[in-house]
Amino acid sequence: MIEQFKAERDKGGDVNGNGTGITRRDFIKTSAAASLAAAIPSGLGLYAAGSDAIRVGVIGCGGRGTGAAIDAVNSSPGVEIVALFDPFQDRLDGSLKTLREKVPAAVKVKADACFTGLDGYKKLLAIKDINYIVTAAPPGFRPIHLKAAVEAGKHVFMEKPVAVDPVGVRSVIASSALAEQKGLGIVAGTQRRHQKKYLETMKRIHDGAIGELVGGQCYWNQGDLWVIKKTAAMSDMEWHCRNWLYFSWTSGDHIVEQHVHNIDVMNWAFRATPVKVVGMGGRQERTAPEYGNIYDHFAVEFEYPGGVRVMSMCRQIKGCADRVEEKVVGTKGYAFGYGEIGGANPWKFEGDEVNPYVVEHTDLIASIRAGKPLNEGKRIAESTLCAILGRMSAYTGRAISWEWGLTSSKLDLSPAKYEFGPNPVDPVAIPGKTPLV
Ligand SMILES: NC(=O)c1ccc[n+]([C@@H]2O[C@H](COP(=O)([O-])OP(=O)(O)OC[C@H]3O[C@@H](n4cnc5c(N)ncnc54)[C@H](O)[C@@H]3O)[C@@H](O)[C@H]2O)c1
Repeated sequence: MIEQFKAERDKGGDVNGNGTGITRRDFIKTSAAASLAAAIPSGLGLYAAGSDAIRVGVIGCGGRGTGAAIDAVNSSPGVEIVALFDPFQDRLDGSLKTLREKVPAAVKVKADACFTGLDGYKKLLAIKDINYIVTAAPPGFRPIHLKAAVEAGKHVFMEKPVAVDPVGVRSVIASSALAEQKGLGIVAGTQRRHQKKYLETMKRIHDGAIGELVGGQCYWNQGDLWVIKKTAAMSDMEWHCRNWLYFSWTSGDHIVEQHVHNIDVMNWAFRATPVKVVGMGGRQERTAPEYGNIYDHFAVEFEYPGGVRVMSMCRQIKGCADRVEEKVVGTKGYAFGYGEIGGANPWKFEGDEVNPYVVEHTDLIASIRAGKPLNEGKRIAESTLCAILGRMSAYTGRAISWEWGLTSSKLDLSPAKYEFGPNPVDPVAIPGKTPLV
């Protein structure tokens, strides 16, 4: 089955570049369905009009929420967009306009299925007809939205990261377990997991092409990003929701918001989570009030079982050396996640690449239709926790064990009230002084 898929990335990936080793031009339009074909027994997963239509509700109608809804439509037959929620009317209107331009035939959004305010997601989830949620609100809201979506019986595509603190991570793990019980699918926006070059590299690593894994490095170093200054008319809460990249309670800081992609690849390669995390970082260049309370650079060591160490760096400062990459080192060679192996068994990926932002929906929808829904919830919760522990270690200056972070940390960054109004935030963290909670 050959289909043409249109790459619809609003910003070419993670804000300033997708970091997946593919350019927009590389989004070769071959069969996105092919990647799942091997996973679904023949005869299953075929779309029968009507009964297994996918009716999408979008939570968080920004660049990625809109882009992911378009990707879902382009991924599979029988996908319609039926409801939208964003706290802000201007964002919702912009999203609807883009959807109508890009996938007009699939847009079935009626005026009474558009919701704003902070709790409009509850109204959207109450629509029985919706069976597929795209949730791409700022990460601090993800645990709440996921829990509500699973309780409402919906399949979920959720953007990464999926929490900003250990309390949120535990909530996502619990919601994912509930989804499993209810037979609901969850796929996360870690698109490398659905990208051919990564899949083929990982298969080779796991088959022993580079021997026993002894170390690694991963990076998300880039320039600066968009920022929204507070106006007199904006409450704290409105500003935090609009300028969400820059508050640890909304984004988790950039180590969580962006670098989670590369950390997830490390967990994938090692087939494990780290046992210990120690990191450092600071806020050197982005010090103005509009940059909220996050850092602009981090360096973290993740120690995996057997004492294997992975060095991670991330930076968002313009005018510096950029690098977005993952490298794993073994006793017989090395591998780059983007499809290159050196050493005893050299290899380079040379196939056609399929847009992984589309394939993640192809895979989820085919799995739902086959009655075997994918559930990536626990895995992305764990990768999110790795990044959170890196941030917590850098903020406090303390080394943190995985076990403690997963089971005992009480850190909960959620605001006192989900209301438009005042919302004081923590001061910028100072290592050695900021307490580990
Ligand atoms: N997988 C990827 O490559 C990739 C790329 C870009 C973004 N992302 C992720 O997607 C998510 C959204 O990023 P974006 O680039 O679309 O940002 P964006 O700012 O364009 O969109 C975020 C939207 O969420 C809305 N919002 C704010 N508070 C909300 C709330 N409480 N409930 C619902 N919606 C709320 C905002 O109004 C905005 O429209 C983030 O988690 C980000 O990390 C992933």
